[in-house]
Amino acid sequence: MDTASYNAKQAEAAHLLQVYGQFDFEPVSASGVTITCRDGRELMDFYGGHAVASLGYAHPDAVAAITQQAQQLFFQSNAVALKVGAQAGDKLAAFSGMDRIFLCNSGAEANENALKIALRKTGRGKILALEHGFHGRTAAAGAVTWGAADKWYGFPRTPFDVDFIPRDDAAKATAQIDDSIAAVIIEPVQGIAGAYALDADFVSAVEAACKQYGVLLICDEVQCGVGRCGAPFATQLYGLQPDLLTTAKGLGGGFPVGAVMMSEDVASFLGSGDLGTTFGGGPLACALINTVLDVIERDKLIDNVNTLSARLKSECLVGPVTEISGAGFLLGLRCEGGANNIRGKLLEAGIITGSSNDPEVMRLLPPLTLQDKHVDRLVSVLESI
Ligand SMILES: Cc1ncc(COP(=O)(O)O)c(C=O)c1O
Repeated sequence: MDTASYNAKQAEAAHLLQVYGQFDFEPVSASGVTITCRDGRELMDFYGGHAVASLGYAHPDAVAAITQQAQQLFFQSNAVALKVGAQAGDKLAAFSGMDRIFLCNSGAEANENALKIALRKTGRGKILALEHGFHGRTAAAGAVTWGAADKWYGFPRTPFDVDFIPRDDAAKATAQIDDSIAAVIIEPVQGIAGAYALDADFVSAVEAACKQYGVLLICDEVQCGVGRCGAPFATQLYGLQPDLLTTAKGLGGGFPVGAVMMSEDVASFLGSGDLGTTFGGGPLACALINTVLDVIERDKLIDNVNTLSARLKSECLVGPVTEISGAGFLLGLRCEGGANNIRGKLLEAGIITGSSNDPEVMRLLPPLTLQDKHVDRLVSVLESI
């Protein structure tokens, strides 16, 4: 049934678990930064489907790449080597500056593998994570996610010891780093926390303490990576050299992908059978990784992020917005009157934004292909609130 009275929310509720807080619109198609809804509304997307739509929707290069790859070779497992996979490895290594890559399917899976590698490589049993950080909902990733135990961590115990360190308190952080710690995991720009860019001195102090005690530094760039923060990866903004770097979301532009990148030294002990996943790095995923990275480079999208981010940061400080945090296209707008109230008003005016764990902060995570006209519209609607 697909009539004017059709309601996907009600239809999904028949069998699909109702575990998500959902927007009150139903997309039927999307192109560029615009989503068209069943009721005919056209919405401008400053949320990008949780930061995934790096090239926007129906990008011609992405559509052509997935179509061509699907026709040529739809799927093969990791039991065979593929040219498209080798290309994805080369491009991602060049883009990130990391030596070795393991491809998987999601952010949580990337973090799960990064943590496993760190624990095995060091032979130690404890991980340090940051307060307010988010790393995913699986056993290991959830164990290092702040607040998970109270909120949604459904396992009886964590698979290893975990301690949390306060953000931007270098003295407290370095006091906790010693040779009992396998790894410290951080999001350089925390996403769900409300687009919070860590202090550069804090990050440098953590990196130095890690080096001193042979602790591995894992940077989770599942949300803030792949051009979003105005550099290929946010670690580069900080001059950081992580031992392990994870990413997902924008890397496939909408196709599920994840990646664990690491230094040659970290990778050196990994051999056949140590890691695995059925779908990770399949031909469709790799075709999309190649296209996303090619388009970012060809169309100078990182320059676009930096130019328009500067505009967003200066011009969105109007109406209810009292403060702007974050970097590039991962921005947190602190709103007088509560973020959800303002987000509701923006949605009424046709603009989609994201929430965060801070009830006062809404997140902007637009496609890297955003244009001046979209910023103009957002600013004028904010001014009118
Ligand atoms: C920083 C960060 N790490 C990990 C994850 C988990 O990614 P996924 O939902 O793909 O498992 C997310 C998801 O929002 C994230 O923002």
